[in-house]
Amino acid sequence: MSQSGKLRVAVIGAGAAGLCVARHILARPLTFVPPVVYELTDHVGGTWFYEERVGTDDNGYPIHSSMYRDLRTNLPKEVMMFPDFPFDPKLPSFLHHQDVLHYLENYCNSHAITPHIKFSTVVEEVKPITMETEREGALMWEVISCGKCGGQSTEMFDSVFVCSGHYSDPHVPSIPGLEHFKGTVMHSHSYRYPEPFSGQSIVVLGAGASGVDISIELAQANAQVILSHNKPALPFSLPAGVRQAAPVVRVLEDGSFEFQDGSLAHAQVLMLCTGYNFTFPFLHSTQLGLQVQEHLITPLYKFLVPPAYPSLFFVGICKVICPFVHFNCQVQFALAILDGTVKLPSREEMEKEVRREMQEKAERGVQTKHLLKMDSEQWDYYKMLARTGEFSPPPPVIQSLYDEVGRQRRKDPRTYRHLNYSLLSDTRWTLLEAQPLRADEV
Ligand SMILES: Cc1cc2nc3c(=O)[nH]c(=O)nc-3n(C[C@H](O)[C@H](O)[C@H](O)COP(=O)(O)OP(=O)(O)OC[C@H]3O[C@@H](n4cnc5c(N)ncnc54)[C@H](O)[C@@H]3O)c2cc1C
Ligand SMILES: *[C@@H]1O[C@H](CO)[C@@H](O)[C@H](O)[C@H]1NC(C)=O
Ligand SMILES: *[C@@H]1O[C@H](CO)[C@@H](O)[C@H](O)[C@H]1NC(C)=O
Repeated sequence: MSQSGKLRVAVIGAGAAGLCVARHILARPLTFVPPVVYELTDHVGGTWFYEERVGTDDNGYPIHSSMYRDLRTNLPKEVMMFPDFPFDPKLPSFLHHQDVLHYLENYCNSHAITPHIKFSTVVEEVKPITMETEREGALMWEVISCGKCGGQSTEMFDSVFVCSGHYSDPHVPSIPGLEHFKGTVMHSHSYRYPEPFSGQSIVVLGAGASGVDISIELAQANAQVILSHNKPALPFSLPAGVRQAAPVVRVLEDGSFEFQDGSLAHAQVLMLCTGYNFTFPFLHSTQLGLQVQEHLITPLYKFLVPPAYPSLFFVGICKVICPFVHFNCQVQFALAILDGTVKLPSREEMEKEVRREMQEKAERGVQTKHLLKMDSEQWDYYKMLARTGEFSPPPPVIQSLYDEVGRQRRKDPRTYRHLNYSLLSDTRWTLLEAQPLRADEV
């Protein structure tokens, strides 16, 4: 605790999640001193800062962002926005990534966050320290960071928010015989644009949001794409250059891919759209009572806080969510824990609840790698956080439009982004008519 008796909070990362934490801390000056936001790059925005480079940056750190040149958002801005900070009304609903970066820069400036960010500073270690002198048994966090110009620094905090993102460390599945493949193997993390693949044959592995999107981009650039995945046949039509296939089971000695149904194919490129690993190199997860697996980090009470260390928060580890809306709820809930509005159950009770939830999902047949997918369950989660934390949940119109866009995307992933929407009230949205061409444009 600071001398004023106010709480000191460290925030790791100045992407959307970290900025959201800083914004809400700065709005509570009676309880918190301004946060210290550590950011490894020299800019805010995280994922939304497009880097054409792949590999490592000037300081030798792996490139963080997985953004590709022509990405447009898969949620309309009306659903994507922080509920208290609308996008520019002149923008279309589905944005180019650069517009999202500008939005986050705007959010940062409007809330005067920049002075509290330590740029080009990487957090190397975060560890809990039990203070013997001050308040009896009080727990503090030691944050060791390293600036670009060298020099380690150590600071103490009452609480730490982990906002370091989880779309940077490629998950690479093991494929038997891959050593026989003589073509190019790459992960969507390092995909930027389709032109280099023009005329090539490519196996894209995985039909998540990136797999489908990148397959379409590649086909439009005249690549022949085999989209290999383990889902039921995709319900929408794909461009002529994309053919679906069963999962790859192995690579044969002659370098050809064998699929689960026994069929074979040759290709020049294997593009892995197989997702990302969680990684928190600055934490001793086992000492914190946490298990970090490829697609899971557990136990986290309310997907947010380790029961053994309820002043450490992991913002935004869930998937298939409205990220900014999600962060905004989690952050307000976490601050309500810190300021005493929310009284947490005992460690044992929290651990029991997490175990029960995971077990219940497993019994429903949810695979481990899908345990953090929320989708339609996110709305009750936000309501629960808001009720307990005493703040307003996202208005129902967000869910309603999210559901509609999901339907449109499943109908046609190539055209759903052409539509524009507008929010009319907390409960109603409308589809905007295509703007008629002005006479002088006809
Ligand atoms: C290709 C792609 C497309 C997406 N499309 C959409 C979309 O259309 N709509 C949508 O709402 N969401 C989308 N998302 C999800 C997106 O991840 C979230 O919108 C959001 O950017 C996540 O923010 P974050 O702050 O959690 O993480 P990030 O944006 O990854 O930010 C984390 C920050 O932490 C910093 N950092 C990491 N480690 C350290 C360290 N040790 N010390 C200091 N700093 C550190 C990083 O440099 C980075 O700035 C997409 C994601 C990807 C990868
Ligand atoms: C990350 O993924 C790789 C496979 O790509 C795996 O070998 C490794 O154990 C994973 N790391 C974690 C922390 O799960
Ligand atoms: C969507 O809105 C943008 C920005 O206002 C506009 O340029 C575009 O033509 C609109 N698209 C349709 C289909 O109305």
